[in-house]
Amino acid sequence: MIKGRSLIEPDNFNLEETDDLFVLAEKIETDGQYLRESCRGKLLATLFFEPSTRTRLSFEAAMLRLGGSCLGFADPGSSSAAKGESLADTVRMAASYADAIVMRSPKEGAALLASHYSPVPVINAGDGGHHHPTQTLTDLLTIRRLRGDIKNLTVGFCGDLKFGRTVHSLAKALARYEKISLIFVSPEELVIPEYIAHYLQKNNVEFRETRSLEEAMPQLDVLYMTRVQRERFFNEEDYIRLKDTYVLNKERMTLGKNNLVVLHPLPRVNEIAVEVDSDPRAAYFKQAKYGMYVRMALLASILGE
Ligand code: NCD
Repeated sequence: MIKGRSLIEPDNFNLEETDDLFVLAEKIETDGQYLRESCRGKLLATLFFEPSTRTRLSFEAAMLRLGGSCLGFADPGSSSAAKGESLADTVRMAASYADAIVMRSPKEGAALLASHYSPVPVINAGDGGHHHPTQTLTDLLTIRRLRGDIKNLTVGFCGDLKFGRTVHSLAKALARYEKISLIFVSPEELVIPEYIAHYLQKNNVEFRETRSLEEAMPQLDVLYMTRVQRERFFNEEDYIRLKDTYVLNKERMTLGKNNLVVLHPLPRVNEIAVEVDSDPRAAYFKQAKYGMYVRMALLASILGE
């Protein structure tokens, strides 16, 4: 049972609990009326101290589709954070109005800290370059829907593996599934953090690192492309030098398997050419839609009747 619980990192829910969410999300996808009233009378606070389109909108859409309501802010400049209010105080205040809090912050550990002060569940919608567990639920549900199961897969991660929180969360989460092997494709400066590599080693997950997308491409069942995370760089020159290291285009797609699934948490900048969108293996827009179903399943399970 995940009722009343917070979600800060993917492994806060065990495999069975995560699986239950996918089953629920699939039911919601096939039956538009399912759980339509489960959050009636409930209020969700969305506190976004960092920009977001999909995550915030999909949480709000999910809550509204469950019969609930939302309040919050999308711009910290319009909240009392701009006056110097501490996160602890903002969260305690929001918790006195709402039944659950979804928050995004540029600071690693912010959601965990918030959960210590909040009497209501806190859902981490991204804490700096650390984790993004509901994107991971989205990614796993998409893989499950498009591949039938989450096992026996070679998954490639390409781009900014250092700062990409969606990569950190998904790599850790995949470690719990059977026969998963990972290939990390990044420039030297943006390799996967040591703590993730260590976690994978400890859990006996097969993985390797490469600089070449072309070399990795033929082996992949899933390719997870990511944006170079400009806002986490210390200087603009490094960003400009690294931003276009990998661009997935039609030509590179010819190196991939016929049943490859290409994912991207979005927003994309240049790393996937628009010409790839019409390839049946491009699944990133479907993925965004699964994000809403899985967030409905999550909110209904945490908050619903
Ligand atoms: C991601 C994020 O915020 O980490 N976006 C999202 O939530 N879909 C990825 C990104 O911003 O690059």
